[in-house]
Amino acid sequence: MKDRLEELRREALAAAQDAACASTLQEVEVSFLGKKGRLTQILKGLGALSPEERPAAGQLANQVKNDITAAFAERAGALKLAAFEAELAPGSFDPTLPGPGPSPGGMHPVDLITRELEDLFLTMGFQVADGPEVELEANNFDRLNIQADHPAREAHDTIWVQRASQDSVGLCMRTHTSPVQIRTLQEMGAPLRVIAPGRVFRQESLDATHEHTFHQMEGLMVDKGIAVPHLLHVMNTLIEGVFGKALETRLRPGYFPFVEPGFELDARCSFCETGCKVCKGTRWIELIGCGMVHPKVLELSGVDPDVHSGFAFGLGLSRIAMLRYGIEDIRWMMGGSISFLSQFRK
Ligand code: DAH
Repeated sequence: MKDRLEELRREALAAAQDAACASTLQEVEVSFLGKKGRLTQILKGLGALSPEERPAAGQLANQVKNDITAAFAERAGALKLAAFEAELAPGSFDPTLPGPGPSPGGMHPVDLITRELEDLFLTMGFQVADGPEVELEANNFDRLNIQADHPAREAHDTIWVQRASQDSVGLCMRTHTSPVQIRTLQEMGAPLRVIAPGRVFRQESLDATHEHTFHQMEGLMVDKGIAVPHLLHVMNTLIEGVFGKALETRLRPGYFPFVEPGFELDARCSFCETGCKVCKGTRWIELIGCGMVHPKVLELSGVDPDVHSGFAFGLGLSRIAMLRYGIEDIRWMMGGSISFLSQFRK
């Protein structure tokens, strides 16, 4: 046993010296010290020794193991230093080469969808409008026919910036993009075709489908003689644009104070034939809130509802982006992770 250990040490030390690069060195080290290495093989014989011989053999085995380990560590250090020196040697390093440059990021998935939808709506004669993210309480609620006692105004839904009082107006983070309807109606009057994509804010308990900040896109078309078929046509065009093919749609009654009648528009699930996680087994995906603009909303913003009528819709852009790209948790959207964003290079 003693001779075999000594022999092993000699061989290992020589092999360490012979290894010409770090990866060979590591392979050789494993062949000596690894679980199936030669030292382990020898140690298996320890049990066969007499109790008198065993302690000395064990001690020697330890010593040999330490010596081999040290030799390999020393050789690894020497190889590393040599590699470094080679890198710095004259002629092998060109300081005039350009640096690696910034790694390219990507477009945010919501921006990708927004741009696509803007292009689509421009072809239908819509303008793209913008509104402030800190909004007047009056535009976010009152002028949309949302009553003072509506639960959405509660502090647990709405993020208030300033509560209304005798000498101040109410200001909130807009809870939807619908106030842009009011602003554009007041600024431009009828006839009118606008979409308004943007950020909205709500006080939510955050989980995979709820985030305090998300994106919506509002749409509004007001003209003489606008009726439900106009709404349907535009909604079907929108869905075809988003999913790349026409999908069956259905309208269900939905309540939004600023439209009458109001609808929830569902589209056929494009991800399955028989029911899946996305459509929760129903084969329908709830996509858009919409309806005919409430006469009161037109009137409050100076448009005569006896002359003009219109439709409006609100679309969750974050949700559309998640459906389109198979993103399962909404918290990725605003998380700012570079590894997430760099997947959307264009
Ligand atoms: N503003 C609504 C929301 O955030 C969405 C909506 C529904 C907008 C119906 C509309 C509409 O314009 O007609 O929940």
